[in-house]
Amino acid sequence: MCGIVGYIGRRQAAPLILEGLKKLEYRGYDSFGIATLGSCIEIEKHKGRISEYDGRILLGGTTGIGHTRWATHGIPNDVNAHPHLDCSDRIALVHNGIIENFVELKKALTARGHIFRSETDTEVVVHLIEEEYAKKADLLSSVRSALHHLKGSYALLVIATGSDCLIAARNGSPLVLGIGDNEYFAASDMTPVLEYTERAVFLEDGDIACLTRTAVDIYQDAVPVSRPVELIDWSPEEVKKGGFAHYMLKEIYEQPQAFFNTLRAINKSSLPAFVCQSPSVTLVACGSSYHAGLIFKYLLEESCGIPARVDFGSEFRYFLPPVDGLVIGITQSGETADTLTALREARIHNCRTLAITNVLGSSASRIADATLFMRAGPEISVAATKSFVAQLAVLMQIVDARSEGRFEDILLHAHQAIEEVLLMDLSDAVMQCKGTKSLFYIGRGPFYPVALEGALKMKEISYIHAEGYAAGELKHGPFALLSPETPVIAICMPGETYGVMVSNIKEIKARGAPVIALGSEGDQELPDLVDGFIPLPKTHPFVQVLTSLVVLQILAYRTAVALGRDIDKPRNLAKSVTVE
Ligand code: F6R
Repeated sequence: MCGIVGYIGRRQAAPLILEGLKKLEYRGYDSFGIATLGSCIEIEKHKGRISEYDGRILLGGTTGIGHTRWATHGIPNDVNAHPHLDCSDRIALVHNGIIENFVELKKALTARGHIFRSETDTEVVVHLIEEEYAKKADLLSSVRSALHHLKGSYALLVIATGSDCLIAARNGSPLVLGIGDNEYFAASDMTPVLEYTERAVFLEDGDIACLTRTAVDIYQDAVPVSRPVELIDWSPEEVKKGGFAHYMLKEIYEQPQAFFNTLRAINKSSLPAFVCQSPSVTLVACGSSYHAGLIFKYLLEESCGIPARVDFGSEFRYFLPPVDGLVIGITQSGETADTLTALREARIHNCRTLAITNVLGSSASRIADATLFMRAGPEISVAATKSFVAQLAVLMQIVDARSEGRFEDILLHAHQAIEEVLLMDLSDAVMQCKGTKSLFYIGRGPFYPVALEGALKMKEISYIHAEGYAAGELKHGPFALLSPETPVIAICMPGETYGVMVSNIKEIKARGAPVIALGSEGDQELPDLVDGFIPLPKTHPFVQVLTSLVVLQILAYRTAVALGRDIDKPRNLAKSVTVE
């Protein structure tokens, strides 16, 4: 869940790494640090975000490693920030992941005289390397031997005085190498590297790589292996704000294109046969991706009569439901630990697995039998927006494939409706939301997960307590919370449940709570009934799912801006959650 960057080449390493870390801050932003290699190790590390640091980083050297942290072991402070050093300050290491057996390792190392400075799990690794390096004076084999003692997950980078290489190792946490011209990069993902090269090598679990100025050698333990060089077609411009106030707003605006690109990239005729033939579907996912799974369940069951169940990745592993056939893991990052574990579990139980992800080379795509890649482009804001809509593009394509192309035309034009709602004036709704401490979101059918997602976006970036409910459920308890201070956002679209939604809205109004309704343009009844009406283009329900989602994202965004929140880096969160 932290971000790491390493560089070896001809440029000054520290400024390049610092810029790279800024691009990885979505992975964690409670402290940061850099170490460079010269005749000795030079190091700087600080609590807080890079943007908040007003000093200058004056480290020399053309080889270095850096880290931006999302704390797991030990509070965010200068000492717990990475890189970590061995006792003699000769070896520096950055780590993303969790060392599960660090308590016993620390005990043994302390007994052997090592002095620990931090509370982190990571520090044991650098002391283990120190012991080996004292014996062997060869950094690659010292790191290799040290890794044999570790249980847990890691992506780590190591430099040491007396060695002119940078060592990178991966097990369970993402790590990609950027291949330049007599210069090499290592990073948690390609975003910091895109400016320098489009050539990438994705390390596999168990890989250990030795990077020098002229070559990269990769090993599985001590056995040399070769990994393909892949071309990444994300442009460096895509990871810049491009004039928008926040990445989230930019990414919201990129949604029509992301939906359309993804739709076009999924070739229905080449969907794996097991996806097209399975008599039932299980989906595993977390957070917003879980909501995408729920929307799919409603659409698939209603359109094709194929039963679907959706599980949280975190529950699936420990409380395995009776599964057979097809298990789909939805994860934009491809690195969410709970979803990956669920996919592995599904394989153990002989299910065929499909990953839906936005990241080429991600762990999910390595675990699953087949992968469908979305074409959302890099998503930097912690709150998922365009990746969510792109997930829906993939899932709606599957529904379409399983219903013999019934929705093809509708999907092909959906991006136009998304475009239409982007410029909607939501200022009245924002005024109503920003002054409140608590909000409810309600919907029925596929609009119920839309309500869940709207509430998640709102709480995530505005810090207003927001709950999504199936509209019929509010009267079974939550009604007790209704008051003029708890606005309810109701998604009330034409169709079978319209009448009963209107009744629900009346019940809510009768309890004094204001209602803001998202409805269809031209609705004759709702505008007079509610306190705020947001008209969406009159179109197919699949498309109204998309437009209502986008409007709720914008509502959350505008409310959070009005409250002065840190939109792209909400407190306590990180974009990819690689711990269970
Ligand atoms: C919310 C959000 C998270 C993610 C969740 C799963 O805006 O982004 O809820 O959806 O952490 O992430 P992925 O899709 O990467 O598995």
